[in-house]
Amino acid sequence: MKVAIAGKGGVGKTTVSGTVARALARAGHPVLALDADSNPMLGVSLGVGADETELLVSARQAVADGQAEHEPTMEGLVERFGADAPDGVRLVVATRLDVINPGCYCCGVNPENLIRGLEDGGERIVVCDLEAGLGTLERLEPGQVDVVLVVTNPTGKSLEVARRAVELATGRAEVIVLANRVRDDSDVDLIREVLGDRELIVVPEEPVIAAADREGTAPIDLDADAPGVAAIVALVDRLSGTPVAA
Ligand SMILES: Nc1ncnc2c1ncn2[C@@H]1O[C@H](COP(=O)(O)OP(=O)(O)OP(=O)(O)O)[C@@H](O)[C@H]1O
Ligand SMILES: [Mg+2]
Repeated sequence: MKVAIAGKGGVGKTTVSGTVARALARAGHPVLALDADSNPMLGVSLGVGADETELLVSARQAVADGQAEHEPTMEGLVERFGADAPDGVRLVVATRLDVINPGCYCCGVNPENLIRGLEDGGERIVVCDLEAGLGTLERLEPGQVDVVLVVTNPTGKSLEVARRAVELATGRAEVIVLANRVRDDSDVDLIREVLGDRELIVVPEEPVIAAADREGTAPIDLDADAPGVAAIVALVDRLSGTPVAA
């Protein structure tokens, strides 16, 4: 199964991606976490640590600067630009490079093609933290990912991006909306005003998530039972009920 996490900048995509990837791994799934953001931070939310994350970023930078070879194979990409995260998650940084070799997996393709290249029989779950905005979703072809998880906050601008993301992703994948940093019922009302009466995964404003961010640790390692963290972890059950594209 392949899950892509989309939404406006700063809504919590990386927090959700890292936490759900760890939770899926704890539930026994092989998980590959793909960081497609040009400022890759998924390692921190996964609990890989800032130093290891920085190493992966430098490896990508070396290719971008022409100081390291491009990587033509998917397996090589997973090996060279990857690190092992806790619970057995494999983290891969696959940000788009400026200097592009045609046909090269590691630089010239979009995240959605990378995700397609990662097809391997269906057992592994790929969790892809997308770049902010709508670019990747605009290029997404039906069946490339099974689920698009649209993350929004209860704010006008992020809801406008979420509305368009839902529109773009509908018909290309199953769409699940995650309302993050919700404080009260009026926040939920605001979200429903824009997105209509649909299934919402509601994640409250969570001090543990803020604290994990300050400490540079994974929220799931700080307190997996904190309501905001548990609400993201509960996505595991929701995702296991999702049909996978053939
Ligand atoms: N439920 C929550 N409660 C409190 N703080 C949160 C919550 N979710 C996310 N945050 C905080 O919001 C900030 C942005 O989160 P995150 O980096 O996950 O967003 P993002 O969508 O990946 O951002 P970007 O578009 O820059 O990649 C972080 O400081 C994070 O700790
Ligand atoms: Mg992010």
